[in-house]
Order: sequence, then C-alpha cells, then structure tokens
Amino acid sequence: MSLMSKIKETQAFLNTKGITEPDFGLILGSGLGELASEIENAVVVDYAEIPNWGRSTVVGHAGKLVYGDLAGRKVMALQGRFHFYEGNPMEVVTFPVRVMRALGCKGVIVTNAAGGIGYGPGTLMAITDHINLTGQNPLIGENLEEFGPRFPDMSDAYTADYRQIANKVATSLGIKLEGGVYLGVTGPTYETPAEIRAFKTMGADAVGMSTVPEVIVAAHSGMKVLGISAITNFAAGFQFELNHAEVVEVTERIKENFKGLVKAILAELP
Ligand code: HPA
Repeated sequence: MSLMSKIKETQAFLNTKGITEPDFGLILGSGLGELASEIENAVVVDYAEIPNWGRSTVVGHAGKLVYGDLAGRKVMALQGRFHFYEGNPMEVVTFPVRVMRALGCKGVIVTNAAGGIGYGPGTLMAITDHINLTGQNPLIGENLEEFGPRFPDMSDAYTADYRQIANKVATSLGIKLEGGVYLGVTGPTYETPAEIRAFKTMGADAVGMSTVPEVIVAAHSGMKVLGISAITNFAAGFQFELNHAEVVEVTERIKENFKGLVKAILAELP
C-alpha cells in the first residue's frame, strides 16, 4: 500500500473512533506522557488497535493515543513515540505526524528527554533549531505533494511565533525556559565523550534520539512546531555514567513544571 493510502486508512479509522478535528498534536517523550491523563472528554486508543501504526517498546512510553480537550484546545496526544533505534523505518517513526496533519492539526508540540551540553539536569529548553546527525532523512522517497514541496525550507522549522509565546508564558508562570539547539542522533548508544566535544563545537546545546525526524515531517507539511527538551542529564564526558533510569527519574522531578507550562502554552497558541 502506498504511504498516502496508509495515511487515509488510518485517518478513516481514527474518524470512526470520534477523532475528527484536532487543532494541535502533542508528542510526549520519555517520562512526560502523564500530561495526556489530564485530557478531558478523552478518547483513548491503544497503538495496537491502529492500522499502519508502530509499536512502542521503551520503558516510560505508554503506547496510547489520547484525543480530547486540554486547556480549552482539541488535542491529539501521543503517549509514546517510535524511535529509529527500535528498528522502525523513518516512515513509521514519522507516520503519526502525517496523520496529525491529515486530520487537520495546524501545530504540534514535540517534547523529549535530552542530554545537556552546557545545560544541566532539570532544565527545560525550547528548541530553537536542530542539527540532523541521524544520517537519515524521513522525506527520502517519493514526495507527497499534498503535504509539501520536494525541497522544503527548514529555516523556521521551530516556529519563532510559538517560541515567543512559550517564553512569555514561562515568564508569567515563573518557570525558567532556556533556549538552544537540539542535535539528533539515532542512538541507542549514548554518545562518547569525543562525540559530545565535537557536538559542542558544532553548536549543540542538547542531544537526543528523537524529535528531528518528526519535526522535519511536520515542517514539510507546513505545521507549526514547538519543541521542548527536558534535560535529564549532562551529556557524556560531563558526568560519570549515563543510564535510562536517571532519565526517567529526572523527568519525574520536573514533570509538574513541564505539564503546567505545556498547558499554559496550549491555551495561548493562535
Ligand atoms: N544522549 C542522548 N539521548 C538522551 C540523553 C543523552 O545524554 N539523555 C536523554 N536522552
């Protein structure tokens, strides 16, 4: 089946579940999925039920799509995303973003846990731009003209307007929101200290194993994007040892601020 037919099939399936007109997509990273439980009038669909959908295998990722009202907006939230390191092709990693667009989402808030290069554990960082070091591009292959052009512009992939709103909202809540460049790798290994030194020279402020593919596909289709990284650890070389338990533990600590911030931003987005 062609990618376009798959998108249409999944869209039709979600329509039958009552998921008809989301305004905003929400992709919730490691340990950040709890926000979806605050969605009102929720329609919850298990990933396993959804045709053409991937499977979520990572601890801290629930594997549910939740649609409903959050901060007065119609949202479609993904509790758990698909990573390239799980063995998913890029088409599967980015498929939910295609479906969000097909259903009518005009914007998406993409969140992740990331290692800090400069920033320390507990920092919330609005992504200003990214560096794609995955060695992949999710738009390789036939271009879907219905979504966007063959050679899409990426100069405002992380929409400046959205970031301004995020900064204003954070200030009013007394939450410190940093800004910086997210460098995307495939994982699943954490980086070597030499890699992190190289990434620092390249201008990266955070490093992680997600987000870049989804944002490329969102930007291609003209969706506005806000990216937020929860810095869970100092990247390799700045601290002794890296492990996923720490990533989950730190997100646990900052999730109240994170949830409050995302809800308040949603309320303000045009
Ligand atoms: N590197 C890559 N991905 C990550 C990290 C890291 O240090 N922390 C959380 N996700």
